[in-house]
Amino acid sequence: MPHVNKTTNLDAEISSTDLGELPADVVTDHNHKLYIETVGCQMNMLDSELVVADLRKRGYELTQNIKEAETILFNTCSVREHAEHKIYSSLGRLRYGARKNPRKVIGVMGCMAQKDQKLIFQKAPQVDFVVGTGQLAQVSELIEKARIHHSKNERSRELAVGLGRKDGKHAEITNSFQSYDPLRDPEMRPSPYQAFVRIMIGCDKFCSYCVVPSTRGPEQSRSPREILSEVKVLANQGVKEVTLLGQTVNSYKHTQDGKLFRLSDLLYLIHDIEGIDRIKFVTSYPKDMTNDLLEAIRDLPKATRYLHVPLQHGCNDVLKYMKRGYTVEDYREMMQRINEILPGCSVSSDFIVGHPGETEESHQKSLESIREFRFKNSFIFKYSERPGTKAAERFPDEISDKIKKRRNNEMLKVQNEISEEDNAEFIGKQLAVLVEGPSKSAQKAADASSDTLAEQLVGRSNCDRIVVFDGSLRLAGSIAHVEIFDVTPTTLIGSIVTKEYQHQLGSSLPILQ
Ligand code: SAH
Ligand code: SF4
Ligand code: F3S
Repeated sequence: MPHVNKTTNLDAEISSTDLGELPADVVTDHNHKLYIETVGCQMNMLDSELVVADLRKRGYELTQNIKEAETILFNTCSVREHAEHKIYSSLGRLRYGARKNPRKVIGVMGCMAQKDQKLIFQKAPQVDFVVGTGQLAQVSELIEKARIHHSKNERSRELAVGLGRKDGKHAEITNSFQSYDPLRDPEMRPSPYQAFVRIMIGCDKFCSYCVVPSTRGPEQSRSPREILSEVKVLANQGVKEVTLLGQTVNSYKHTQDGKLFRLSDLLYLIHDIEGIDRIKFVTSYPKDMTNDLLEAIRDLPKATRYLHVPLQHGCNDVLKYMKRGYTVEDYREMMQRINEILPGCSVSSDFIVGHPGETEESHQKSLESIREFRFKNSFIFKYSERPGTKAAERFPDEISDKIKKRRNNEMLKVQNEISEEDNAEFIGKQLAVLVEGPSKSAQKAADASSDTLAEQLVGRSNCDRIVVFDGSLRLAGSIAHVEIFDVTPTTLIGSIVTKEYQHQLGSSLPILQ
């Protein structure tokens, strides 16, 4: 599909004093070493994977050493201020090096690129191009353009971004955010057995605190045809587990050949693909957790019994300020349906502490909700005011960082107690674990001693619990039976029951948890 918005060179708009001078001896050749720094959510991890795969096809080689790279990309996040600071300070460290070496091309992609646009050139004049979340197919072209500018001893100031949510008709805005999902390069996945698959882009929920609807644009679902062909390619490349991605993944809807497909329909279609053993999806929106979806998970052995459905807050007043569109009672009703249809299903949540309007009493209600719903785990964030959001426009960010920190710690403490108690229930039980590879500590030890056959393995159970156990690295990518003998709040520790394993979870393995 053609890109609706053109790239613009902003040199004319930014004064040369902002930019610094390039040395006269500009050279056109470069070393094809590529460095990329990624922050943010799984969407960003997937975007980075796809961009790197494309660049590798064009001769680039990934390096972990930013100093030797002559092409440097930052894939950015804007969800909290802290994530933006991190990127600006990394960019700051590059300022001197970029002036010294005119071969260096620096690009900023992702949510902060979409949000800050040309402000990035002002704050970080060493940046050559800024590319939004819906223009990622243009990255290689933007790198080339930057090199052409450099070869003429010019600064490059290329900007390729989608339209703002108020900058045009709905269809124009939607078209300016393109899903970027080329077929994959098997080398580029974080693990050979697991892959993310985007099924939606954008978000239309407009929670009052959140930048995502403007950084990722309007909600759009990809066609089942495209998704299935992507999953088939991944299965042929040896992928065992796919995680379907969307900001509100269970709001998925796409009409193809006159038929409406929902997430439950997609699960059935993907379930039929040979080679795929597990199907997960994140992140779910409480109001769209319909019974057809829960029943599909119940009836499809490859669908994991795990849901990430953020509650965000345990107090109705704050939920109203947040414009989440549901009450704690609605959430409770959803949890009852989950427990009835999917007994043993684990549920995880996100929470924000210190949102405007949160009193000590409402904070207690959030703590109470963790106790009531017994989440497998919760990601707890301190409210960060995001310019341009409804919350920033309407309410002052009145709660001090000290109080936010204290509330955050209290939430974590309660959640950890619950997680540890619930994990302890697994002691003495056997779980089917999809083996991912060496555990973090085994990996570190192996790196230090250049020993490749690490002994401690890590994987996940069907209910998404992290399990570590000793075994051969040859088990990676298979499903192993592990008996649990110890637990921490985040991890189950076990030992392998049988060294026999199989690739088809759906065939004869009993589903344990
Ligand atoms: N689409 C997902 C999550 C998107 S962002 C969903 O709706 O669940 C991931 C998490 O960041 C959110 O769930 C929320 O808890 C947190 N978050 C978003 N905006 C935030 C802000 N302004 N300050 C603090 N946390 C925020
Ligand atoms: Fe942000 Fe709400 Fe959309 Fe999630 S559902 S991405 S929190 S606006
Ligand atoms: Fe951050 Fe964008 Fe994801 S703002 S959380 S990278 S959608």
